[in-house]
Amino acid sequence: MENKVVPPLRWDFSNMSAEVLGTADGINDSARSPALQLLDEARKCFEEDRKKGRFPFLELPYQSTEKIKTLAEMVRERFDNFVLLGIGGSALGPIALQQALHSPHYNMLSRDQRGGPKMFFIDNVDPSEVAPLFELLDPARTVVNVVTKSGGTLETMALFLLFKDWVTKHVGSRAARNHFIATTDLNKGALRKIAQEEGYPTLDIPEAIGGRYSVLTPVGLFPAAVSGIDIDALLKGAADLDQVFQKGPTSENGAIWGAYLHYWSSTQKKRNILVTMPYAEGLNGIAQWFGQIWAESLGKEKDLSGKKVSTGQTPVVAVGATDQHSQLQLYMEGPMDKTIQFISVEAIKDDLSFPPIKAEGTIALLDGRSLGELLQIEQLAIEASLTKAGRPNCKITLPSLDPHSVGALFYFFEVQTVYAGRFYQINAFDQPGVEAGKKIIKKLLLRKNRL
Ligand code: PA5
Repeated sequence: MENKVVPPLRWDFSNMSAEVLGTADGINDSARSPALQLLDEARKCFEEDRKKGRFPFLELPYQSTEKIKTLAEMVRERFDNFVLLGIGGSALGPIALQQALHSPHYNMLSRDQRGGPKMFFIDNVDPSEVAPLFELLDPARTVVNVVTKSGGTLETMALFLLFKDWVTKHVGSRAARNHFIATTDLNKGALRKIAQEEGYPTLDIPEAIGGRYSVLTPVGLFPAAVSGIDIDALLKGAADLDQVFQKGPTSENGAIWGAYLHYWSSTQKKRNILVTMPYAEGLNGIAQWFGQIWAESLGKEKDLSGKKVSTGQTPVVAVGATDQHSQLQLYMEGPMDKTIQFISVEAIKDDLSFPPIKAEGTIALLDGRSLGELLQIEQLAIEASLTKAGRPNCKITLPSLDPHSVGALFYFFEVQTVYAGRFYQINAFDQPGVEAGKKIIKKLLLRKNRL
């Protein structure tokens, strides 16, 4: 009997179809059937490119995690505080993992309950975020993980300078060396050089993997392991999804279909906004991470031939049920320029049943229910109401909020983004638009007078 791999998550794009939304708004068979050939061709190219090693992030689920786990174990034994310094792809993945797989009150738990250090993530150059940490933390008990692929990102290196100074002042320059761990490119960049000179332990980001595709490298895996997340399960989730994608037919591949349908929506229906609406507080960070990969990969002025195309969808985050009471009105009745992408979780952890209810009215409907059930019912209701109003939406469902599902979710979105890049015919791995701002920052810094 054929050994069918069960997908570690489910996807449903039926609420983007003409059968559900009607021909004016949904995709119908006359658009879908020819698309299948395009999808098959895209898949063939993707697989050939993969064989040529053009998408090294795809192989990350199969990496060895021994070095990461050994270093993480050392940190867990020796330090009370872990501070990550990074920005963009060097921070959003680690933050998303922490939020998805730990209690929001992780740092308030006792050391025994946590099992590891308190976790802090600094991804901005705002003194109001940094200064309080210098007051709060004991530098002798703090380890700093400096994360930058290029090894020279101004914001990250600015933070590094301050943390190095702070630690050195308190413990002396010789001991300070034991308080820094650099996660950076194997060969290039200022941070690699500093780490070599100072003798900091280092973790390598593979050469051809840029920030927004790096969550399953030591960028995301190391802080996750330090906080006690099972990083092998995380990679297994990604690997399982990879197997499903590799073995299954194109017509059942959610990442290819998702990429195509969002591309079709933006180019054919002018739906230029993609709202990610997770129904789980813990998935807010992944929605933010998705915002980066979708925006920075697909928002391009020129296509591969150099033609001006100005592509991309604007990612927006709305958290259910909270944003039902703020943004939903716009999604139900505002411009037809968006798709809502729900993320829901099937098995709710630590669910809370309501006590017997004596009151009358709506509140009585909660009798015999739980808080998690209410959240799920609200998601189903909002999905149904959007669909009834002819508003396109889709859904990804995780069996539960655990490392296996979360690893698969990251992988799903990464693969989907690369396919979308192919449909738009743009480079999904560069970010030329970000460079202009960086040049002006340098110019302004060169001016000696204060702003
Ligand atoms: O996805 C990207 O490439 C960017 O968002 C980078 O992650 C971000 O600019 C930080 O770069 P680096 O990791 O080199 O410091």
